[in-house]
Amino acid sequence: MRFRDTQVIVFANQKGGCGKTSSTVSTAAAFAALGYSACVVDTDPQCNATDNLGVDPDEALRDGRFTLADAYLNKVPAARIAVAPEDRFGGLISVVPGHRALSSVSPRLENEVLQLLADENTSDLDGEDLRREHRMRLRKSIDSLRGQFDVVLIDTPPNLDFLMTSALIAADWYVVPTFPSGYDLKGLEVLTRTIDKVRKQYNKELSLAGVLLGNYDRTTSLDKQVHDVLRQRFTPALVFATTIARSVRYREATMGRITIFEHPEGKEQAEQYVALVKEMINRGAKGSFGATLNPLPDAAAVERVIGGDVEEAANG
Ligand SMILES: Nc1ncnc2c1ncn2[C@@H]1O[C@H](COP(=O)(O)OP(=O)(O)OP(=O)(O)O)[C@@H](O)[C@H]1O
Ligand SMILES: [Mg+2]
Repeated sequence: MRFRDTQVIVFANQKGGCGKTSSTVSTAAAFAALGYSACVVDTDPQCNATDNLGVDPDEALRDGRFTLADAYLNKVPAARIAVAPEDRFGGLISVVPGHRALSSVSPRLENEVLQLLADENTSDLDGEDLRREHRMRLRKSIDSLRGQFDVVLIDTPPNLDFLMTSALIAADWYVVPTFPSGYDLKGLEVLTRTIDKVRKQYNKELSLAGVLLGNYDRTTSLDKQVHDVLRQRFTPALVFATTIARSVRYREATMGRITIFEHPEGKEQAEQYVALVKEMINRGAKGSFGATLNPLPDAAAVERVIGGDVEEAANG
């Protein structure tokens, strides 16, 4: 570990297909490229991040291992679930794999509440206590990763249901990935309201690391306008100056189950994520995030990584 304390960052936006998974995975790869260790926690039953990092949840289960569903259902600590995909990122990235069974976690836990309430020796308030404990389970599980990794990056599903809210409860920071479109801005108000509730009721430390504009087309003034509107809405300091340009390389990477850092023609895109991570670290440096950081490696080392060989650079 190079940070003094592990920073838990959730990528949250209830809108589908706005870059949550690609930014979670690419940010993990950028941290690794800079020599930091990262653990990606996949709370989405679609398991795109797990898949992208080359982990097969069913294989994990066959080998007698766990998936994130066990963190919720059986209170398994995430440190016992994490696996490090072999021969990628020099071991600097681990994954707590998602599983399609995550989609049944919420109804199963709610069923426990109903069973409890059916007991004549309990009151309605006991049901509330159990619900509260359920919402804290991911946080408790992820706490086992603190001290083990520089950053824990949580990918989330495209809704504001139990899996998303428990991820917000588990995190120190949230990043809002967004693609330029009018609809997104309305959704962001609903997300902000949800986060305010999470802060009031469960996690007062949760802070906005920044709003990230991806799929950004530098050739149209419309996308620039969206960036400006976001800066007005969230204040310029809370919208990342780094934008992620639109590129077909991301879809190619997704389809090839590799990160943009491993794409043979992904150098330019990888550089944008390295810039983003440096911005995150510098921004954090002004708050509690920063007091915990060691200096970044020199620019030459970074160049070498972006040049293609993440593993070589990570090993020395
Ligand atoms: N900068 C970009 N330029 C072009 N395409 C992109 C860019 N970033 C991501 N994509 C592509 O957009 C699609 C949606 O991205 P991604 O899967 O990261 O979104 P998501 O928010 O995780 O989606 P979901 O809500 O379904 O989980 C993917 O095919 C991805 O490869
Ligand atoms: Mg996704």
